[in-house]
Amino acid sequence: MSRPHVHCYGCGRAARVILRWLHQADLIQIGQVCNRSLESSRDAVAFLGAGQAVVAMDAAVNGGWLMLGLPDGALNAAALGLSCRMPGQPELVFHLSGSMPASALEPLGAPVAAVHPVRAFSDPATAVAAMPATWCVGEGETEPLSRLKALFCEAGARWAEITPAGKPAYHAATVAASNYLVALNDMARSLAQRSGLDGNDVAELLADLQQAVIQSLRTASPEQALTGPIERGDEHALARLLPAADGAGHAELFRALGRATLSLAQRKRGELDSDAALARALTSRPD
Ligand SMILES: NC(=O)c1ccc[n+]([C@@H]2O[C@H](COP(=O)([O-])OP(=O)(O)OC[C@H]3O[C@@H](n4cnc5c(N)ncnc54)[C@H](OP(=O)(O)O)[C@@H]3O)[C@@H](O)[C@H]2O)c1
Repeated sequence: MSRPHVHCYGCGRAARVILRWLHQADLIQIGQVCNRSLESSRDAVAFLGAGQAVVAMDAAVNGGWLMLGLPDGALNAAALGLSCRMPGQPELVFHLSGSMPASALEPLGAPVAAVHPVRAFSDPATAVAAMPATWCVGEGETEPLSRLKALFCEAGARWAEITPAGKPAYHAATVAASNYLVALNDMARSLAQRSGLDGNDVAELLADLQQAVIQSLRTASPEQALTGPIERGDEHALARLLPAADGAGHAELFRALGRATLSLAQRKRGELDSDAALARALTSRPD
């Protein structure tokens, strides 16, 4: 496979990781890198170790690939804006959003696709090394998608495809699995910090616990993986936990997740009647 010239409009966290990963694998050449200020474009090029920092793309994009690493909300406007002022014609255009359809890029007049890397890029520098074996979910027109699939799979990605109609539900799933896990960890930390546990141990203790549960979910269903007082139907234990959650300012979230956990437990046990006390506690108002 010849190494395509990949140009980038919107080179933030996700785009930097993707470009540096594919470039280090010697699978692409990095062309123009364009953010809204030259300083920002230069910063991106310094991270990539290749490319030309610009604030307006020019005819150099002719025949190359154009990757849009813009926030989702900027994609439509960007596509229209670029179509008005981009002098060159890329061979294909793709974005990195999990929720926007590739068709948002049609105004650019080139074949369109999207590749969503299923990974949180909070720290681009360390994320690059983790990219091989990362799931990448593609969507778009057949021809550009098959070229992107070949490129990403050659770099080691695990590949899946989705339809435009499925993208909002797919993206909601990844938000629930990733962002909400972080929000849960934050709630757990604030509770643990009120417990008197050594603050230095809290992060590791909770991460170990979450990691073990996630590991079990690789092979077990959520019903099988669930343990704890709600799963056991232990209303006395729950009655002791709720005031602690209320006192830490988590009354609403703790009860809402408790209700979700209770329906999971009921699916597991196939019993509904015996849980009336638990259900009452979880719909109660905090004192
Ligand atoms: N971050 C992740 O973990 C992750 C993971 C998978 C997929 N994605 C997807 O990747 C895409 C980009 O997300 P990101 O987290 O990489 O965003 P980001 O870090 O905020 O980067 C966005 C980049 O676009 C530039 N930009 C140019 N025009 C812009 C405009 N009108 N508004 C805002 N920024 C503009 C920004 O640079 P200047 O502000 O300097 O112009 C910045 O470099 C999204 O579609 C997202 O869903 C992200």
